[in-house]
Amino acid sequence: MDDDVIVCRCEEVTLGEIRKCIEAGYTTFDEIKRLLRVGMGPCQGRGCREIVLREISRATGVPLEKLHPGTFRPPAKPVLLKLLAEEKEGD
Ligand code: FES
Repeated sequence: MDDDVIVCRCEEVTLGEIRKCIEAGYTTFDEIKRLLRVGMGPCQGRGCREIVLREISRATGVPLEKLHPGTFRPPAKPVLLKLLAEEKEGD
């Protein structure tokens, strides 16, 4: 795939930027996430995590199933703030 391909649509991160990080020695999803914000958009990485992990696997030779998928933080799915604001004690 071409370096110009957008991998993380939420944060507009390209495959070329991810490749540069890996070449610089950042070979975990969390490291690349901290540098480029991949996985930090509204979809919380549902659109890009797998692609980034595949690129790390391809570049390092580490099988995909051996790679740490990265840290997941709640909310894993977008939640309307209105719902949180309406929650009362005991709900
Ligand atoms: S596509 Fe990367 S966070 Fe949504």
